[in-house]
Amino acid sequence: MNKQTIRDVDWTGKRALVRVDFNVPLDQNGVITDDTRIRAALPTIRYLLDQGASVVLMSHLGRPKKKVVESMRLRPVAERLFELLPEAQEVKKTEVTTGQAAEAAAEALKPGQVLLLENTRFDPREEANDEEMARELAKLGDVYVNDAFGSAHRAHASTEGVARYLPAVAGFLMEAELNALYGALENPKRPFVTIIGGAKISDKIGVIENLLRKVNTLLIGGGMANTFLVAQGLSLGDSLVESESIEIAGGLIEKARAAGVDLLLPTDAVVADAFSADAQHKVVPVDQVADGWRILDIGPDTVATYSEVIKQAKTVIWNGPMGVFEMAPFAKGTLAIAQAMAEATAQGATTIIGGGDSVAAIEQAGLSDKMSHISTGGGASLELLEGRELPGVVALLDK
Ligand code: 3PG
Repeated sequence: MNKQTIRDVDWTGKRALVRVDFNVPLDQNGVITDDTRIRAALPTIRYLLDQGASVVLMSHLGRPKKKVVESMRLRPVAERLFELLPEAQEVKKTEVTTGQAAEAAAEALKPGQVLLLENTRFDPREEANDEEMARELAKLGDVYVNDAFGSAHRAHASTEGVARYLPAVAGFLMEAELNALYGALENPKRPFVTIIGGAKISDKIGVIENLLRKVNTLLIGGGMANTFLVAQGLSLGDSLVESESIEIAGGLIEKARAAGVDLLLPTDAVVADAFSADAQHKVVPVDQVADGWRILDIGPDTVATYSEVIKQAKTVIWNGPMGVFEMAPFAKGTLAIAQAMAEATAQGATTIIGGGDSVAAIEQAGLSDKMSHISTGGGASLELLEGRELPGVVALLDK
């Protein structure tokens, strides 16, 4: 990575203003149901404290739409952070994000102490990347650290604007994410295979176009594979098809051929007579999907072909499930791909899970610790895979 990191700063007596992505899921009672993103920021926070800094943390939570929403306050996050970081002795928490009270709380910090500001998105100026808010945030620290990879695709006051007013460096999570994802994209060991799934092709067109310039093999699954199959002249009964994207899918197949990339589509599928876990279901070749039936997973022949390709690979990136894995009868394809990825890792391949639903699938398969890297950013990793620059990264100091 060509950006400065927290290793490039002498932290003695300094106050670090750290953007983290603590946008964690909460249940109806406000209890955190997955603290992965909080845990992922701990190495950076610990390092800063060990180096003699005090730490001011800021994050968004949810989409409060520019106003204070009580259920989106960061109080539960502060509590969980303290449980995970007992050496901090206390995690102070302000009810505001900027202004006098925030400045007083930040100035009162001693080395080794941690303060968490209130949800940055309560302030309408955050998402507008307002300069005044950026300047107010910059008053709260001596050096800005961006460790919020999951928000790096947003040009907001706390992710991009503030970096104009303070020296700005990457934290360890940001560094690990960028090294893993750019390392695979720019300098992959080959064969380089990507697996792209999910419901809609329209969300992934940019990703596929960019990957066609880089990979050896592209495996397509999930609802989006249907649109490719229709572009090849198949009729798929009641399956989800994005009719406005059929031509684009056909064009991508052509581009793959011209680039010498193997673009593989499912050859068989699990079809069901309703979109429901207790619908009737069966396995059929993809050219035999009858009216009244819809594809909800890849079939066993496709699993076998895809698994073989994955196990031969030296670099694999996966984004998007192969079927409706939330419903047990349609989870087999996705779980089998997770298993093939785990086997590839064991054979020395670099295996990367590109955020979002695929992370949930890997967790459901109980294989999280069998991957080289699991991204904490859904939208951010997709934009990176599309080849787009991430504003939160661009804003950091070059090495
Ligand atoms: C995420 O969960 O992907 C990030 O925290 C960004 O959230 P956003 O999509 O609401 O900007």
